[in-house]
Amino acid sequence: MINVFQPSLGKEELNRIEAVFRSNWLGKGAVNNEFISDFAKHIKTEKEHIFTTNCCSEGLFASMEMFGINSGDEVIMPTISFVGAGNAVCSRGAKLVLCDVDKRTLNVRACDIEKKITKKTKAVMLIHYGGIPCEMDEILDLGRSYNIPIIEDSACSVFSTYKGKACGTLGDMGMWSFDAMKILVCGDGSMLYFKDPELKIKAEKWLYFGLESKSGYSNSVDKKWWEYDVSSFGHRAIMNDITAAMAVEQLKKLPDFIARRSEISRIYNERLKEAEWIDLPLSIPEYCTHTYYFYHIQLPNGKRDDLAAYLRANGIYTTFRYFPLNRVKHYDADGSFPNSDYASDNTLCIPVHQSLTDDEVNYICDKIIQYGKEKM
Ligand SMILES: Cc1ncc(COP(=O)(O)O)c(C=O)c1O
Repeated sequence: MINVFQPSLGKEELNRIEAVFRSNWLGKGAVNNEFISDFAKHIKTEKEHIFTTNCCSEGLFASMEMFGINSGDEVIMPTISFVGAGNAVCSRGAKLVLCDVDKRTLNVRACDIEKKITKKTKAVMLIHYGGIPCEMDEILDLGRSYNIPIIEDSACSVFSTYKGKACGTLGDMGMWSFDAMKILVCGDGSMLYFKDPELKIKAEKWLYFGLESKSGYSNSVDKKWWEYDVSSFGHRAIMNDITAAMAVEQLKKLPDFIARRSEISRIYNERLKEAEWIDLPLSIPEYCTHTYYFYHIQLPNGKRDDLAAYLRANGIYTTFRYFPLNRVKHYDADGSFPNSDYASDNTLCIPVHQSLTDDEVNYICDKIIQYGKEKM
């Protein structure tokens, strides 16, 4: 089966892990610091704004605590969002307010958000779909004029930029995922960004029990180094150095991964032109860069599920991301979402990962074109 997503890890990651074993310290330490420094350079920001955690979902939950979202508050997000974002809002007793998206890019737009703003709106949480940057200037303007923080779920946008700035660093908070199905992978892991360095300090504490003073070695100046206090009832969500070791090496490989993904997307664009019954992804504005996490095609003829089954029977796995939250019954969220409905019923994410060979990419194109000849 050709996978839709697939990681690429090698001896470089293994060697770094071996060095961690030899160091005799597996927890959060020097290798985390190295990863934070490297990642800060990658996203062109200062280390004071970012820190590592064990998964991006933890970042989504942390955002609720950091922006003080509680019962009675409203958080707006596109209905095509990750389940963890919906859970983060609802777990606080806050109201999940869903909005529609652009039917081709599946990204939320300022006009979609503005319709849903009320006096109770406490945050907007957006997602850059598959690495395609949202049109951020208008969304940031909206955030400023209504004084609402903008939280960027950049889980899939580790290489995306908007007008020269990394996605995830445009709003008040951002986050990237390094889980097993992302591009830069380390099993599980995430980087969190805060525009306000004070909030970064608060969040980092919150993700380590809200500890105010350190116990252990690093506090050995105190006579009783085992004493501590807490300032909040926070979680324990940190990245360890085994994980960070993989992340450091993966970050070095990221430009090559993206170059290959871009090339695969180019081949798809070129070859799938022949399948006129498919809408290919729109090209992104020249002031943006793409992560190429998804390559999504649209079949405006109700055949999406049939094509997915056909490809699967031919050894090609595809999927649709993200099942819209308004269709998740437990959220009980109201509204009408015509563009999202269209996208959710007609969009298919076909395989993109850096290990795909040209032969595999051409095989996928052949099968899609053949499907059209047989069934259209
Ligand atoms: C858009 C989006 N946000 C957040 C997450 C959560 O990331 P993690 O698995 O690191 O918790 C994912 C993971 O699939 C995602 O796709």
